[in-house]
Amino acid sequence: MSEKTVAQAELQRQKNYAEMVHTVLSARISGEPKAFVHTYGCQGNVADSERIKGMLSEMGYTFTESEDEADLILFNTCAIREHAEDRVFGNVGALKSKKKRNPGCVIALCGCMMQQSQVAERIKNSYRFVDLVFGTHVVHKLPEMLYKVLCTGSRVFELPKSDGVIAEGLPVSRDSSFKAWLPIMYGCNNFCSYCIVPYVRGRERSRDPETVVNEARELVKQGYKEITLLGQNVNSYGKDLPNPITFSELLKRINDIEGDFIIRFMTSHPKDCTHELLDTMASCEKAARHLHLPFQSGNNRVLKEMNRRYTREKYLELVEYAKEKMPDISLTSDVIVGFPGETYEEFQDTVSLIREVGFTSLFTFIFSPREGTPAYSMDDPVSAEEKGKWFREMLKVQEEIAGERTAKLVGTTAKVLAEEQDEKGYVSGRTGGNVIIRFKCDNPEKVIGNFVNVKVTNALTWIVEGELINDN
Ligand code: SAH
Ligand code: SF4
Ligand code: F3S
Repeated sequence: MSEKTVAQAELQRQKNYAEMVHTVLSARISGEPKAFVHTYGCQGNVADSERIKGMLSEMGYTFTESEDEADLILFNTCAIREHAEDRVFGNVGALKSKKKRNPGCVIALCGCMMQQSQVAERIKNSYRFVDLVFGTHVVHKLPEMLYKVLCTGSRVFELPKSDGVIAEGLPVSRDSSFKAWLPIMYGCNNFCSYCIVPYVRGRERSRDPETVVNEARELVKQGYKEITLLGQNVNSYGKDLPNPITFSELLKRINDIEGDFIIRFMTSHPKDCTHELLDTMASCEKAARHLHLPFQSGNNRVLKEMNRRYTREKYLELVEYAKEKMPDISLTSDVIVGFPGETYEEFQDTVSLIREVGFTSLFTFIFSPREGTPAYSMDDPVSAEEKGKWFREMLKVQEEIAGERTAKLVGTTAKVLAEEQDEKGYVSGRTGGNVIIRFKCDNPEKVIGNFVNVKVTNALTWIVEGELINDN
């Protein structure tokens, strides 16, 4: 066991605290205590929240969607862009009156935003009704921290700086009974010059492959139909292990688990994406034909300034290889417009790359300066208004491409995991390529959570409609 792994004795100590919290709550609250947990940010945060909810369950909490009836309100926050942080500050501010009406309600904040010292200071000084603030490296200590808040009534701030830990064996309360998030590694070593993640999530650390495969096997046994492997850069999985293994090898091992399920994974960093991985994807029948491969910019100078460590040519070569091995591959990506110093001509290289690749969909962002990152202090002469124009230009191009791509799906049949029903009665899910597909269905309760075959009959720009072929 590596020194990054939280010792079992410590986890047992936390279990004891969980029981103590349970006892305190039973004495104070008639009926079951209720927790409202809201998650901002990426799937990594969602997966953390599932563990937080697992621990809260052990402490006796049930969950509510209403802040008003909650005895505990917890926000798991994201620091990726300024807009994300502003939303959190706004929503936390709104809790002040709630706390006044119900002083017994515990207000807790955690996640990436809290790991930044200037944010924690601001909460300490200007949001005095917040009871508990904890960082990304002490999530497993929630029972102890909550116990302190409940028993002393004083505010608890637990924000150690750390390269990061791995806490195995925490209870998990999953949001879905058929789709599961499976973190395979935590942290990031890449220090892209615009990005806050390495500062708030610590260094890359991989979970033990056997533990990951066992968890996947257990999920399949429980009836999970889709497993999404998570990491900021899954392609560097395993490099830090005492017995290094590749992501490609891990994917094979999970693919070998018997059962009817599909495997997705994110995010792949182009600098570590290998032909071997693409070959493995092609040969793994359970791996969805979808690759999320963020390119960020199509211009080599900008990529260098971003510290992405690949070129436009390398990116396009990978895409070409992926398409050759998997002609039906669906590519999605992340892109940043208006990186400091980017010119309109350089931005045009991003537009041309988008056209050249033909992405199914794009997550598009305008550069947001993050305190503590190198890009924060770079010269940024282009106005927000101008960047907005470029952004809209890019969206128009992508809209056109997405429309062409969804049109091509008409007439094909997709194996779809039926996920939910909307107000209009449509059931929706996603194709292997991650395109949302909706269809009418007489017995939604029977199909939701199962695979169905759907024939695509109509393409709207971003999503498609279809007809159910069978429901078993
Ligand atoms: N690890 C993933 C990305 C995680 S963050 C990867 O490297 O691909 C998700 C996306 O947010 C990034 O891909 C990037 O496009 C965007 N992003 C990150 N920091 C940003 C910033 N400061 N401003 C704007 N967008 C940002
Ligand atoms: Fe951020 Fe880059 Fe790490 Fe992704 S790879 S999380 S963009 S530093
Ligand atoms: Fe946000 Fe942290 Fe994820 S900054 S995107 S929640 S790793």
